Amino acid sequence: SAAEKGGYASFMLKEIAEQPKAVADTLLGRIDGSGALTLDEVRIPANVLRETDKVVIVACGTAFHAGLIAKYAIEHWSRLPCEVELASEFRYRDPILDQQTLVIAVSQSGETMDTLMALRHAREQGAHVLAICNTNGSTIPRESDAVLYTHAGPEVAVASTKAFLTQLVACYLVALYLGQVRGTKWADEIRAVVRDLSSIAGAVERVLETMEPVRELARSLAGKDTVLFLGRHVGYPVALEGALKLKELAYMHAEGFAAGELKHGPIALVEDDLPVVVVAPSPRGRSVLHDKIVSNIQEIRARGARTIVIAEEGDEAVAPYADHLIRIPATPTLLQPLVATVPLQVFACELATARGNEVDQPRNLAKSVTVE
Ligand code: G6P
Repeated sequence: SAAEKGGYASFMLKEIAEQPKAVADTLLGRIDGSGALTLDEVRIPANVLRETDKVVIVACGTAFHAGLIAKYAIEHWSRLPCEVELASEFRYRDPILDQQTLVIAVSQSGETMDTLMALRHAREQGAHVLAICNTNGSTIPRESDAVLYTHAGPEVAVASTKAFLTQLVACYLVALYLGQVRGTKWADEIRAVVRDLSSIAGAVERVLETMEPVRELARSLAGKDTVLFLGRHVGYPVALEGALKLKELAYMHAEGFAAGELKHGPIALVEDDLPVVVVAPSPRGRSVLHDKIVSNIQEIRARGARTIVIAEEGDEAVAPYADHLIRIPATPTLLQPLVATVPLQVFACELATARGNEVDQPRNLAKSVTVE
């Protein structure tokens, strides 16, 4: 009903708007006054986490994209090797797992059958399983050794938005916690990231306040057949998520690529006026990455692409090559997906609406897939 949608035209729009609160709620009570992480829910004993020699993330759909981003954070902050695999592929390839493996199952519903079967398989091999889940008491957390709940609140729209952002927050917390427990990073580095995380809900709010030009752009592209998405580093899974959203909602051909792979195939798809969304990494910090994306944007634009660039405020180097520029607040590179994904959600939602689609219940899809 209209009341349940809180005045929004769809649950999806309502859930997009709820993201700052969802992010803040997921951080609440998990950081102490000194900036250290207090993840008591992760009941896997510290000595087990210290002996862990590998992390494996299993998930499906949007949760899988959260897992892809988590890999960068886990490897950076905990220095543990981390693999990410689609749950539906994982158990059919005889994965190497033992008591020193920490498996993280990411699922909004906690009922996705593929993810559940993957975690059962992992536990049979002796691995420890941590669930990151949004639904209290659902099957996946019940069958795991521990659970870190995301506090997004109920998500009704089939396409995941606020749950995704909170999955990212939970993954960052786990990555930092592993670093803290294992002593792989200096306490002050962890504290600095925790400080950045604490201000991220405000950054998401600022993005939401500036979305009108994105909606306008989306409406102008309603007649297109294809949209491509490019990114590097954590921007690559963001590109995959942007493309998935557009498929799910607008029923358009949308594909995400690692920008470095352009020259190995995707650039052949570029033709006159093809919309290409590029997620630009922060020019601060890893400036090599940024230089490379600038040349990728130049390459596709020279071949006629219409470039839609998501870039940090103050990033002037991309401006000359952007037909459309979408600004996001400056954040440390690893945290950028929390702000960079939001315009892509708004873009897909608006484009779908312009094409006459029902965004909460896309054709052929289900919120929770309880069959393999
Ligand atoms: C379905 C939904 C997606 C979701 C995926 C995984 O396909 O339509 O939005 O990302 O399942 O769901 P889960 O509940 O495990 O996160």
